[in-house]
Amino acid sequence: MNVAVFVSGRGSNLQAIVNSPGLKNHVQVKAVISDKADCRAFQIAKAQAIQTFNVGSKTGFISYDELAYHLEELKIDLIVLAGFLKLIPIKFINYYKGKIINIHPALLPSFGGPGMYGINVHKAVFEASAKVSGATVHFIDDTYDTGKIIMQKCVDITDVSSPEEIAERVLQVEHQILPLVIQKFAEGKINIVDNRVIIN
Ligand code: GRF
Repeated sequence: MNVAVFVSGRGSNLQAIVNSPGLKNHVQVKAVISDKADCRAFQIAKAQAIQTFNVGSKTGFISYDELAYHLEELKIDLIVLAGFLKLIPIKFINYYKGKIINIHPALLPSFGGPGMYGINVHKAVFEASAKVSGATVHFIDDTYDTGKIIMQKCVDITDVSSPEEIAERVLQVEHQILPLVIQKFAEGKINIVDNRVIIN
């Protein structure tokens, strides 16, 4: 299975995908796409000789239509948003419907929606005095963070003393469930039955 990963920053999830032993044999990251001219995630891609693309309206960047053309050529089966901060045009999302997933650093449907990205999510969780948080992998649809949930994993945050500490714990489980979901996709084990996502 061929995968394209969208990134905007550090790229630790991309690194987790690239390093995952469960993905070695049947999953290939063929493209890394960013809205930033340069970011740490791009350096990870380049170190692995993975093709990179810049998408958006900035000078020298390609459009989403052009990107779709390149992804077709690369025979991409699954698009993974791993810390991608820009809203993707609906036309592109519809084109890849059912084949585009995102990792969110909280337990959706709580702590999602506009503005809920990065440390903002963990601040909101901390201020709510929540006792658990976690990571969610979900399908992308046409609004923020509302697509069907594929996989979640909780972390206990009863004893944390800062949003940053929550972020650290959640990131550990992100690195576990994102590669696992990709593996399940590659194995054809993710299906929608009666409007629910079922993993076999
Ligand atoms: C992760 O917490 C992800 O859930 C969120 O942005 C962060 C990206 O981290 N959407 P990284 O770039 O994968 O290190």
